[in-house]
Amino acid sequence: MNRKILPAVIFFAAAVFSLNAAGKQIVENKNGSITFVTVDSDGKAVEFNKKYDGFQDVTIVHGDRVSKRNPVNIDLSDYGNRTLIMEFSCEMKVVDVTGADNEIIWMINDFANNFPVLAQQTVKSGEWTKFSGSLTIPLTENKTLYISSSALETENLTFYIKNFRLNLSGDGFGDDIPAESWTAASPLKDAYKDYFDYFGLAVTGQELMNASVRKGIARHASSITMGNEFKPDFVFNWQKPTAFVDFVAEDGKTYRMPKSLPVFTTVDECLRLARDNGLKMRGHVLVWHSQTPDMFFMENYKSGKKAVLTDRATMTARQEWYIKTMLEHVAEWEKKNNNGEHIITVWDVVNEAISDNAMESRWLREDSNWFKIFGDESFIINAFRYANKYAPKDVQLAYNDYGIYSGESRKVKAALRLIQEIQECEDARIDVIGLQSHVQINNPPVTGPDSFETAVHAFLETGLDIQITELDIANGSSSYSPVICKSVYKDYFRMFIRNRKTAEKNGISGVTIWGLRDSDTWLNSQKEYRGTKQYPLLFEDDYKCKPAFYGVLEAASDEY
Ligand code: GLA
Repeated sequence: MNRKILPAVIFFAAAVFSLNAAGKQIVENKNGSITFVTVDSDGKAVEFNKKYDGFQDVTIVHGDRVSKRNPVNIDLSDYGNRTLIMEFSCEMKVVDVTGADNEIIWMINDFANNFPVLAQQTVKSGEWTKFSGSLTIPLTENKTLYISSSALETENLTFYIKNFRLNLSGDGFGDDIPAESWTAASPLKDAYKDYFDYFGLAVTGQELMNASVRKGIARHASSITMGNEFKPDFVFNWQKPTAFVDFVAEDGKTYRMPKSLPVFTTVDECLRLARDNGLKMRGHVLVWHSQTPDMFFMENYKSGKKAVLTDRATMTARQEWYIKTMLEHVAEWEKKNNNGEHIITVWDVVNEAISDNAMESRWLREDSNWFKIFGDESFIINAFRYANKYAPKDVQLAYNDYGIYSGESRKVKAALRLIQEIQECEDARIDVIGLQSHVQINNPPVTGPDSFETAVHAFLETGLDIQITELDIANGSSSYSPVICKSVYKDYFRMFIRNRKTAEKNGISGVTIWGLRDSDTWLNSQKEYRGTKQYPLLFEDDYKCKPAFYGVLEAASDEY
């Protein structure tokens, strides 16, 4: 039904149903949100009589007080003039004396906002149908939630409703409840243990090495990603090679590799702290155009103006050497210090190799020393061949990128092409597609979890698992609303859970949030956010939990 042309008669018919039902029949939750529920514990459906004078046999509970009122028109006047998050579910059976199907809409009588719809379905006469939906809206004064259906005026319908639940939260709810410290709040990793292989947080070396911060990290995460410490720049420790060793590459030829590099002190310390705190790790990252020293790509490892890019064969050998050195070092560390049990369970083998404006003929990122030397995707395929050769078989290998969150986008199509090429290469292996997920509230064409889900479905067709590797949700140019940020987080996590990996099917196997506190987010140093302030993470400066934290937590307790 076109909401704009909602016949007035329906609106009035619905309004007549109102018996000022809801009033104060509410449950106040610990977090300050409010829930309207019906109790159907005896299994008996709540029956609404037909006609406008009916709808009386519903039970709404407030604590242990029970009152019989009409819930079909729920009075929201106590919750007006604020951003409201409404989360709704119920089961409905609608019997139409003519046996016809009916379209049933749960909606808000807000003409100015075009009658926001909470849930809408066509129901078959006499069949139970599940309704659910959520809305985040600026609710104006004196509004109600009601049922609309064009058949109402015919008086042919009898409604049965059970398991009715309407949860209201948002601005002003729970304001008086002091924020919890992250070391007291429910652990996110426990909430998600039945859904994902891990719950992840990206951390800096400094955060991991700070004992009190570490306590919070270990409380909520079962896996961490080092924000920088495993990137080539850090692993090479900004040093120039001074001595060299011979390396016999796959092509049988001998190449010169730096003898004194990489430097593994920080890598080892991070592995140790992860081990001691029961944390796994995503290894981030082996092959990337950024945060990789220029000298690595140059003839004789030179840097500066006179340096020239080396040739393909030499760079292929260097890539093999780097991947081998890194992976074997970690495997040896794990053997020596962790009984061979992996700390790093997945590696981002290649990061961000696809162009933002991917076209049929030019689809790879060109502002990259890798691309400049190879001019095609062979360095990416090779990276997955070498990773497959040198990584333990039970360590997953991922391609990781940003901006691949809309099924229709050219970049998604290019990523699918890349995955296919890797899959078709016999001695290469890829297990995971990493979606970085630096998303914005309402950033077209990614207008939220729904459009993102189209990309998730497209990637799942490849048979790979998906990991959400660097999630943060920026407010962009909008002013920050804690309530909206919470509700967008919650919607994203619901979508992730819906698409989770199970024993039967591939799916999303883990989610990592890119950072801890808003004050430390990388976004505020980005050009595109100059002049704005971004609040994309789960914790306040003093490590108290933001509403967004509870959005993530609450998404896990929904029914799926
Ligand atoms: C990209 C990289 C990350 C990190 C972020 C910014 O997404 O994959 O390693 O550098 O940018 O913090």
